[in-house]
Parts: sequence; structure tokens; C-alpha cells
Amino acid sequence: MNLVRRIGVLTGGGDCPGLNAVIRAVVRAATAGPRSVEVVGIEDGFDGLVGDDSAPRVRPLTAAGCRGILSRGGTILGSTNRGNPFAYPVRQPDGAIVTMDVSDRCLARIAALGLDALIVIGGDGTLAIAHDLALRGANVVGVPKTIDNDLSATDVTFGFDTAVHVAVEALDRLKTTAESHDRMMVMEVMGRYAGWIALHAGLAGGAHAILIPELPYELGTLAAHLQRRAASGANHHLVVVAEGARPQEGELSFASDIQASPGALRRLGGAAATVAKGLEPLGIETRTLVLGHLQRGGTPTQRDRLLATAFGARAMELVWAQSFDRMVCLRGTTFGDVPLADAVGQQKLVEPNGELIRMARSIGIGFGA
Ligand code: F6P
Repeated sequence: MNLVRRIGVLTGGGDCPGLNAVIRAVVRAATAGPRSVEVVGIEDGFDGLVGDDSAPRVRPLTAAGCRGILSRGGTILGSTNRGNPFAYPVRQPDGAIVTMDVSDRCLARIAALGLDALIVIGGDGTLAIAHDLALRGANVVGVPKTIDNDLSATDVTFGFDTAVHVAVEALDRLKTTAESHDRMMVMEVMGRYAGWIALHAGLAGGAHAILIPELPYELGTLAAHLQRRAASGANHHLVVVAEGARPQEGELSFASDIQASPGALRRLGGAAATVAKGLEPLGIETRTLVLGHLQRGGTPTQRDRLLATAFGARAMELVWAQSFDRMVCLRGTTFGDVPLADAVGQQKLVEPNGELIRMARSIGIGFGA
């Protein structure tokens, strides 16, 4: 018996290439064949459910309406880091912002919309909310996304490959100009507190030094590495710096404090500038580049499209099986699922003595540590 007649889909947290591919796969899997169910898209993550509007912000999603979105970056549903139903920011008459638990409103609106299940596509924070809603009775399936690739319950998340691809292309471009001018290029990439993007992009893009959060660097060690390169005839240097990289005797670099949005994460930024400043005594002409949101925008790679499509289809399989409070994942070559409780709050970091690092060191890449 088909007990699922109507489902909701939302995308939460920062956007990421491949979100639309998941939405498309969910809609196609849900509406193809005899068990066809209605799919409702919820706008702007959980904010579309719990926002101050008199009604939830939703729109019907059909296979026809999803045509052409496979290759489109971003999310057609919109997304936000705000809107946590368990800590919803509410402005007080005096202008102060306090957080309130509006999860009852969230659950009531899920019921009012007649949603038999909710597919939540998001990173760690969004999936933690999904799990908390499941504990309160919502039929939730999670789909992991993040360019940072730092979720431990899945080998890889979509968006990561695209981010690395963009960073590698940037390095290829930086290399030719660095060679022409005998310069050092210091490029900062995203990744938050994990060094996956920096490590993969650095390796694939021919970086000479890679600084990652998991291996706090020592400026003297990094400088000596670059000096050795220069002494051996290298006329240019490419240094990739993860935004979460920090010196052994120093602090993380933050771009700004977030005051207006309680619960929001502090924004990292400035790590490359710190490194470039520290290397000034070397006397090498240096330029820095912060790659920023270029890594998140634009069309997903074929690998991310495939991963996102498979995750979307697998999420629908869980819905059909009424297997809720779970997250889809990839382990090796198998698409599976894990309890959301085991998936959230477990960061996957680069192993400082792992194979990739050892291999990188063996081909002469410096880590400043
Ligand atoms: O988690 C994804 C990510 O792109 C991080 O790599 C980065 O630190 C952060 O989000 C940037 O967030 P925002 O889009 O809010 O500036």
C-alpha cells in the first residue's frame, strides 16, 4: 500500500553545486511510475516553514518544472543559514535579537501541508535540525551536501568535486602568470575547519606548499621550504592555504564577527594574507588571491551531478520504504544510508599522517610542518 502521497523537499545552509540535481532526481523518482506522489518545494530552507509569513513558502515541483536544472548551480528553492526552528532569531521591540524554539510551528506546518515525508538536503547544521525534528515525530530523510567534504558518515559529498575543480583551474591560471613574473602566488580556498579542498586542489594543481587546518604550520619551516626551492632554481611558487589554516603559535583568521544572526558560524577569511605577510622577509614578490564563492557557484562537474542524482534517487527509496531519521551516503561504491544521529556532529578531517599527505611530502610538497 502506498502510504506516501505528498512529500516536501528543502535545501538548507550554504548552497553548493549539485543541489538542483538532487531536487530533480527526487522529483523524477517520486513522480515516475505507478506510485506517483506529489512533491512540494519549500523555499529558503527551514525558514520557508517557520518564517513569520502567515503561511509556509512552498511551491509545487513537477518533473516538467525541473527540466534543465541538472547542470544548474545553486538551488532553485533558495537556501539560508538562518531559520533553525529550535533557535529561531526573533527581533525584540528594543532591537535585540533573541532565539526562540518555534519547532511546534514547524511541525504544525508540515502537518498542515499534508507532508508524509520531508527530504532535507543540507550540511551538518541542517541535518542536525532534521534529526531533532525526527525525534519530535517528523518523517525526515537527510541528503548530505557540502563543498567542504567534512561529513564523516559519507565518503564524499557533492559540491566538493566542483569546488576542487574550480580551485585547480585557478592554480593552472596562476601558474602561468607566476612563472612570467618570478612571483609567489598564495591562494586561499574554502573548506572551513577541514583541509580537503586545499589538499586535493593543491595536489591536482601542482602547488608547492599546502597549508591545512589539520597541520598547523610553522612559518620558519614554510619559509625554509620555499628558500630551498628558490635555491634549486625555481622561479615561482604556488602556495595553497585553506581558510582554516593557522600558525602553530597563532590564531585562526576570521573575516568578520557575525553579530546579527545568532547561531550563525563565524566567517573564516584572511589566512592567505597572514601567510603572505609572514613570508615578506623572503623578499619574493608575492600576490594573494582569495578564491571565495567562485568555488560554490556555477555548474556542477559530471561527478557531482552523478553523486547528487544518486543521492536524490536513494532518498526516495528511503521514503518508499518509510525508513526515516536516516541520511543517504556513499561508502566505497555503495549508496547506502545511516541513522541521522550517527551522521551529525562528526567532522571528517584530513589525517595528518595519512596516505595523501605522505604521498604529497614524497613529491616535495611542503606543509610548513
Ligand atoms: O561550508 C561551506 C562554506 O562555503 C565554507 O567553505 C565557507 O567557510 C563558508 O561556507 C562560507 O559561508 P558564507 O557563504 O556564509 O560566506
